[in-house]
Amino acid sequence: MNHNEEMFPYNIALIGFMGTGKSTLSKYLKEKYGMDIVEMDQEIADQEGMSIPDIFAAHGEEYFRNLETALLVRLQSRKNTVISCGGGVAMREENVCELKKNGYIVLLTASPQTIYERVKDSDDRPILNGNKNVEYIAELMEKRRKKYEAAADVVIRIDHKTAQQISEEMMRKLKELE
Ligand code: S3P
Repeated sequence: MNHNEEMFPYNIALIGFMGTGKSTLSKYLKEKYGMDIVEMDQEIADQEGMSIPDIFAAHGEEYFRNLETALLVRLQSRKNTVISCGGGVAMREENVCELKKNGYIVLLTASPQTIYERVKDSDDRPILNGNKNVEYIAELMEKRRKKYEAAADVVIRIDHKTAQQISEEMMRKLKELE
């Protein structure tokens, strides 16, 4: 596959809990297939000139959630793009509607233990700060589970898999949908 050749006439939105490797997988897809990627958190931080924790602290969660929705509306014109969503994006029905207009939604899932191992050393997730333990993560994942699953066209468990394995599984499952 040539790097600039368009692989998908649609977008691929990666959703799932914090720490499921959405950003890592998008970087892999960019390197391997030359796909465009949009890292939502990064885009919002750049746009606001502030880190995500600072946006939460200064303006509150609702403000951040509105920025997410506005960004998704702007991304409507894109295609062949991997959209690496913030972990809360699938909680709003209108966000899921935007993503489904011109893309497939891929849900990455992992055990609470795996998530904990991946998020424990970082302080850049305001939702988890002060609550970084397996019990809290398991509880929040369970609260969000139905919405994640309802939004997903494809589900991939990522525990103990490499980016390459996850990418191959995703490609196979997306082809089955076409
Ligand atoms: C959030 C997940 C974060 C970021 C924000 C809120 C959430 O993104 O958007 O801290 O509510 O799950 P990642 O999933 O990329 O960590």
